[in-house]
Amino acid sequence: MTNNSEIFNQIVDKRRAYREFDTNFDLPESVVKNSLERAIKSPSSSNMQLWEFYRIKSKESIKEVARLCLNQLGAITASEIVIFVARPDLWKERQAVHLKRLEKVETKNIKNKLFGSSELSYFSTVIPQFYNLSFPCLRDLVKRIYVWNKSRKAPFMQDVYSKHIPVVTQKSTALAAQTFMLSIVAEGYDSLPMEGLDSKRIKKFLKLPKTAEINMAIAVGKGKPEGLRGTRFRLPYDDVVFDI
Ligand SMILES: Cc1cc2nc3c(=O)[nH]c(=O)nc-3n(C[C@H](O)[C@H](O)[C@H](O)COP(=O)(O)O)c2cc1C
Repeated sequence: MTNNSEIFNQIVDKRRAYREFDTNFDLPESVVKNSLERAIKSPSSSNMQLWEFYRIKSKESIKEVARLCLNQLGAITASEIVIFVARPDLWKERQAVHLKRLEKVETKNIKNKLFGSSELSYFSTVIPQFYNLSFPCLRDLVKRIYVWNKSRKAPFMQDVYSKHIPVVTQKSTALAAQTFMLSIVAEGYDSLPMEGLDSKRIKKFLKLPKTAEINMAIAVGKGKPEGLRGTRFRLPYDDVVFDI
């Protein structure tokens, strides 16, 4: 094993869901900042980065968010809570950033392998076809005919309907969440991912629109040994991995 894989093993093994943190520990500002900077480097579908990260730092805000996380002890004792939000509704803003970036001559002609078009035409024409949610029934019907026709003779992307938009954005946001949690361990601290929360009230607290989706809240702090629920349990490798 190389040195890097040993280090990575240690990080993966040390990342556990801590249900209680030591409130006597001070969390340096750099721990969450560095980890969010790493999380932002996570891959995202079409590199659209339809995510946002809300840092809950003050004692008062943590108390309120912990209440909205159903008073889970991990949230109550956290030094900081970060809320990972999927923002499919921001697709136009992200598209505009990409189009501006692609105006540069050197990137104009790079072909996008998936659609055989340039990056520029991918972001100007394909992206709106996927993310535009006006008249979803009509759009889905047109897409169904298009996809049926395209996939008759060759494989073609199937998960392109309005119901897939939340899945796509949540997927990418969760990848950022995992990068974040591994980084927190690398920084010497611990975390608890939480979906046991009142997403409606959290959105209201963060002043987010209905179209935003709470991916998960992640409590961060110094984990207490008693914050672990026993040893890690996983299904055996052969039960979940299939060689084809
Ligand atoms: C998306 C997601 C949501 C979770 N939500 C909660 C939660 O609300 N409360 C909790 O105590 N644990 C929560 N967990 C933690 C899991 O229960 C935990 O990761 C799992 O039992 C495996 O334990 P380990 O992370 O220590 O290996 C969540 C995990 C994930 C990935």
